[in-house]
Amino acid sequence: MLIWDRLVRSWHWCLVAVVVANYWFLEGGDDLHNYAGYAIFALMILRLGWGIWGRNPYALLKSFVPTPAAIRKHLVELRAGLKNHTAGHNPLGALFIFFVFFAITYLSVTGWLHEEVDALFGNDFLQNSHRWVSDALMIAAGIHLTAVLVMQKLTGTPLITTMITGKR
Ligand code: HEM
Ligand code: HEM
Repeated sequence: MLIWDRLVRSWHWCLVAVVVANYWFLEGGDDLHNYAGYAIFALMILRLGWGIWGRNPYALLKSFVPTPAAIRKHLVELRAGLKNHTAGHNPLGALFIFFVFFAITYLSVTGWLHEEVDALFGNDFLQNSHRWVSDALMIAAGIHLTAVLVMQKLTGTPLITTMITGKR
């Protein structure tokens, strides 16, 4: 059964590559850092469009809105020893995903303002908050990876393989 279509998978692995490269390897303000950031922002817009008008039911944003009620229900199920993994994203995963959408937007906007608006070049708040949000994104990604590995073990569902092949 197809869970993650090509667009979701491509956006995911490009996102991983850009976030890791921009955080650990590429110098902030260098062309490669800036263009990689804009590219992932563009891919995110495509993903949002696919989340609204796309044909994959599991990729639709409305199928994984992290409402407090959904999160509470998921936590109760986890405490009771969840055995089955839902085919799409669970509500805690969804919370992370919406944070990623926010973080990529924030990093792109603050990066762009810093680079393109002369009066804001070297602005302390832009620089600091760009760093804080990228730190928070990196921490969240660490929790995300841990959660994926734990859920894989707990439910016996090959989540990582599904994000590579699309199917399970
Ligand atoms: C995936 C998205 C991004 C991540 C994870 C990221 C991460 C970072 C990190 C870790 C720094 C170094 C901060 C420090 O050492 O104080 C930085 C600096 C910087 N980034 Fe990004 N960034 C991203 C996107 C962008 C985008 C789209 C732009 C657009 C122009 C941009 C422009 C800059 C600039 C100009 C700096 C240097 C600021 C300074 O002089 O302190 N970044 N970024
Ligand atoms: C910078 C690091 C990472 C970020 C920012 C990130 C972000 C995301 C996002 C945004 C999604 C949702 C995809 C969508 O519906 O569009 C997702 C899902 C997923 N990611 Fe990551 N990811 C990262 C690293 C990883 C790594 C290293 C792995 C595994 C080796 C991984 C495995 C997965 C899996 C299996 C899913 C689907 C989870 C499910 O079935 O609900 N991610 N990730």
